[in-house]
Amino acid sequence: MTTTYTLRNASPAKTRAEAVVVGVLSSSKGPVVCDAGTEVAQAWGRKWLPLLSSLGFSGKPGEAVRIPAGGKLNASMLVLVGLGPDPDGTAVRRAAGVAARSVPNAASVALALPADTPELVDAVTQGHLLGGYTYTKHKSKSDGDTGAGEVVVLSPIARKAEAVSAFAEAQIVAAAVRLTRDWVNEPPGHLTPEAFAAAVTDAHKAATKGRGAPKVKLEIWDHAALTERGLGGTLAVGNGSDAKPRLAKLTWSPRGATTHLALVGKGVTFDSGGLTIKPSSSMVGMKGDMGGAACVIAATLAIAHLGLPIKITTFAPMAENMVSGSSFRPGDVVTMYGGTTVEIANTDAEGRMLLGDALVLAVEEDPDVIVDVATLTGHLHLALGDKVGAVLGSQEIVDAVLLAGDRAGEQHWPMPIPEEMKERISASKVADLLQHDWVRWGGGLMAAAFLREFTGGLPWAHLDIAGKELNTGGAYGHVPAGATGFGVTTIVEYARSLAAG
Ligand code: BES
Ligand code: MN
Ligand code: ZN
Repeated sequence: MTTTYTLRNASPAKTRAEAVVVGVLSSSKGPVVCDAGTEVAQAWGRKWLPLLSSLGFSGKPGEAVRIPAGGKLNASMLVLVGLGPDPDGTAVRRAAGVAARSVPNAASVALALPADTPELVDAVTQGHLLGGYTYTKHKSKSDGDTGAGEVVVLSPIARKAEAVSAFAEAQIVAAAVRLTRDWVNEPPGHLTPEAFAAAVTDAHKAATKGRGAPKVKLEIWDHAALTERGLGGTLAVGNGSDAKPRLAKLTWSPRGATTHLALVGKGVTFDSGGLTIKPSSSMVGMKGDMGGAACVIAATLAIAHLGLPIKITTFAPMAENMVSGSSFRPGDVVTMYGGTTVEIANTDAEGRMLLGDALVLAVEEDPDVIVDVATLTGHLHLALGDKVGAVLGSQEIVDAVLLAGDRAGEQHWPMPIPEEMKERISASKVADLLQHDWVRWGGGLMAAAFLREFTGGLPWAHLDIAGKELNTGGAYGHVPAGATGFGVTTIVEYARSLAAG
């Protein structure tokens, strides 16, 4: 079923819907219905508090209960979702996601959540669209989740222009997150570099067809093109696989753009580690190693669709890291795009080989700033867990990305690139750079120092999202199990901040 979303200024108590979702705050005095829900409570006509306490419902984030509606309500069911003590954009986005999963198949749902600012309208809409995401492509039998039919976002400012545009833009951004999730969820045998490039071509076609659609240019470089141009890092990794590498380049160049942002994303469609093979359990989930590429590609299409007046040039190198007679080896020296030579020490440090090529390509476009997104190191996964991304690079850009993350409802944390990392990447006796040194400490910081060598001294931030691309636990808030789409909302918010000047 395709879900339709509408924005309406109406009383939730009078709205006809199969289910009405009401946000409940947790206060020191117990659960309190949010403003939008007070009329529902009155129309329901019974005492809330005894009922909520019998149910053990306190308004904590993640809580949801379904109760028969009754009273004067035009709904057959009430769904109470916890907002926690402080219903900011992040809390509301998460609660809307929980709501989406609590009534997955309702023919019609009305959302009475805090939505009295454009930011909150965005949070309710995005949260519901993201929390209700499912990936059923390879299920031979339906598990019963068909999606809601009609979703009404109730807001007292529904007729204001800012609310209407926040509502429309939330759907564009959510679609980009969902697209990223689809690509990351796709099994690695299905999403080879070639198939990934074809999927990007399809998404680009869909995004740019029809009147009023944005003009985004897409180029796919095949194996011959990569060889001809000398993308040595990408080829070294990709040549070990029968599924040969690709590179996607997207350009959004609106009239009057004053700022130029270059995006780079790691697109390793499967990471076995290569000859430096991963232990079995570490290989699980390595279909998600193209999460950075998926993120920057989907974000680019969304930024264009939003019509943001900044130029974007995006490079997404795609390769599969496999074991074969043509795999690259520890001890090899690889000439990267642009001529820098790299001594290989660990074929599992493959991401920096793709990114080094792509960063040099980005520098050639003469951008004002470069941001790369990559599932790069287990080190930063271990350090920050599976929900907080690491940001490294130029201080000014790192700060701006952190602010963007706050607005986007994603958590990122700054990490340093200490002096001694420069020595570690310079320790090769045979090549310009050493790819890896087998020192266990600070591997994520060393990786960033390595990437910095390819940024031409331009303002740059590196987002290491390793472990954030796939949620190996259960669904929470607006994040389902499996692919998360991590990074997309942060990149879009960062682009918005550049557009705002
Ligand atoms: N793709 C991995 C990083 C990763 C780890 C992504 C966990 C998602 C979850 C990357 O290519 C890798 O193998 N990194 C090495 C770096 C090391 C060789 C310097 C690692 O994590 O051990
Ligand atoms: Mn690896
Ligand atoms: Zn990898």
